[in-house]
Amino acid sequence: MIGRLNHVAIAVPDLEAAVATYRDTLGAEVSAVVAQPEHGVNTVFVLLPNTKVELLGVLGENSPIAKFLERNPDGGIHHLCYEVDDIRAARDRLVAAGARVLGSGEPRIGAHGKPVLFLHPKDFLGTLVELEQA
Ligand code: CO
Repeated sequence: MIGRLNHVAIAVPDLEAAVATYRDTLGAEVSAVVAQPEHGVNTVFVLLPNTKVELLGVLGENSPIAKFLERNPDGGIHHLCYEVDDIRAARDRLVAAGARVLGSGEPRIGAHGKPVLFLHPKDFLGTLVELEQA
């Protein structure tokens, strides 16, 4: 059911420093910073030949990554995003299998302008999983 790995997201305490690490030290192509106020994060995409890395920085008071950064002050891998052909069909299949979908259970428009859902990390080996409509 899941397809390509769309991105690996890393929550970071300092987005500019993270950009410098990926751009200057690792020599990767990085996007500009894009504010996602509806998601409480600033995002930068690191563009790799086969996938992307999404660097996430805190934006605003109620950022969903604030607690994660309290537990992981140096930053860390926050979620993996897999592509699916039909996000509602994927959700229905997962819910029928007992998996928990975070939030309302309805897809929201994610950082790439496509519908996304997040799945509870306790159901997926301790990893927060994002599904994105391909
Ligand atoms: Co993501």
